[in-house]
Amino acid sequence: MKYFKHVNVDSESEKVVSKKLLDYVNSNGYSDKGFWTNVNTHDVLNKVPELAELYKPIGINIKRIAFVTAKEKVGTIHIDDPKTAPAIRINIPVLNCEQTSTNFYVSGKPANETRLPSGIYYYKWDEKDCTLVASTCISRSTLIRTNELHQVCIHTDNMPRITCTIEFYEDLEHLMN
Ligand SMILES: [Fe+2]
Repeated sequence: MKYFKHVNVDSESEKVVSKKLLDYVNSNGYSDKGFWTNVNTHDVLNKVPELAELYKPIGINIKRIAFVTAKEKVGTIHIDDPKTAPAIRINIPVLNCEQTSTNFYVSGKPANETRLPSGIYYYKWDEKDCTLVASTCISRSTLIRTNELHQVCIHTDNMPRITCTIEFYEDLEHLMN
């Protein structure tokens, strides 16, 4: 099984989108709620219209946007809340994503349920119970399976590391092939 796949979109437009998303994060309208922050998708798409266009050539349309802020060098191994997050999302880099890794694991042990300050549930595992099976860097738009165990690690002192994580109306499974 593929755990991730980079998406072929126009790289110049993608850079514009990343920069404008950083402007959005730095704007007064945004406040980081810790790790996972849901935002008003219409507001983001109004301020970053290039984002709405970026994935249209591959036939998918944005449903909901959140920002993920990592501030620890070794993140928790977890899955995103399966009740609210689709199995496959696209993450796009926003800040300090160079020299970071998104690692994927398997485990035979059950998860511990956790609630983030933002009210989002997620499910985490101890690293000693997990085996690394894949790794990538979110250096550009990347499909990732958030229903599989994953973890963000930062290999520099550049913090925080921020990505924009996007849910689509369409099933993205065919894009993983
Ligand atoms: Fe996650």
